Amino acid sequence: MAMFDIKTYLKEKRELVDSYLKSYFETPSEPSILHEAMRYSIFAGGKRIRPILALASYEACGGEPKDIIPYASALELIHTYSLIHDDLPEMDNDDLRRGKPTNHKVFGEAMAILAGDALLTEAFYMIANTNPPSRGRDRVGGSSDMKINPSSLIKIIHDIAISSGAYGMVGGQVLDILSENTKPDIDILHFIHLHKTAALITASVRMGPILADSDEDTLKALTRYGENIGLAFQIIDDILDIEGNAKELGKSSGSDKKKMKMTYPSLLGVEGSREKAQDLIAEAINVLRIFSSKADPLREIAHYLIKRRS
Ligand code: IPE
Ligand code: IPE
Ligand code: MG
Ligand code: MG
Ligand code: MG
Repeated sequence: MAMFDIKTYLKEKRELVDSYLKSYFETPSEPSILHEAMRYSIFAGGKRIRPILALASYEACGGEPKDIIPYASALELIHTYSLIHDDLPEMDNDDLRRGKPTNHKVFGEAMAILAGDALLTEAFYMIANTNPPSRGRDRVGGSSDMKINPSSLIKIIHDIAISSGAYGMVGGQVLDILSENTKPDIDILHFIHLHKTAALITASVRMGPILADSDEDTLKALTRYGENIGLAFQIIDDILDIEGNAKELGKSSGSDKKKMKMTYPSLLGVEGSREKAQDLIAEAINVLRIFSSKADPLREIAHYLIKRRS
């Protein structure tokens, strides 16, 4: 893969996910305001990095990415719900997301909460149902051309539920809120970042080996890769909140300082945080040494994450 170009790879995979989501959400449903609110945030933009990680890890395990697009796309529904709720006035109180006014600014807080609830639930429906665009009351489940073993689907449902709920993202968000205005502490900070962000990213990476029925060593290695890049991802997000600008980020910078958030830069400074993120990325790439060139996309994604500007 001498000519491997990460930008092209990310664009192609993002388009695969976007076109699936487009067709999935094409059919209008009632109540229309709810569906409008869901679509507003899903199609506001976004890097689609979690679905792309799932596709790339499936590829690293010998699979064909397009066979798992519905499962990978479901991760984006959970992530988008988490952003809608994260921006609410009682949470981070942000007005800009993905270059647009936040969901609650457009639809009101009640509808933003409900659109988040609906997206989270829809994600599990998306995984359980393999007849994609069929929605509403006449939904049917199952599909004859299913390439994935149903017991593997149960495993990813388990993984995603654990990593996004009380033991994962939601737990991390709770500590994030409780730690506002408190003295930075490395153990608490590690807990927050590992749970609020690295957990869902790790589940995204683990989706590949689970759906490919890979062996235990492969799953273990990719779990470590996921935790390392997940932690680095949030550290970079913290740095971008200081160094980035709204135009590039699509969200307001300076939000963490305003809310007195416990972040890596608040403990280690920007340079110390960047070094920490670099170490984590190097470790993530090192873990991939047991993989062939099929894991090159995962290697390149790790490099991209440290350089990203948005
Ligand atoms: C932002 O996630 C929230 C974090 C967990 C840091 P992304 O940086 O992946 O946001 P989008 O999806 O591209 O908008
Ligand atoms: C959010 O962390 C993590 C989530 C689970 C949504 P942040 O609060 O730092 O994310 P941004 O900066 O608002 O995207
Ligand atoms: Mg937050
Ligand atoms: Mg936030
Ligand atoms: Mg942030």
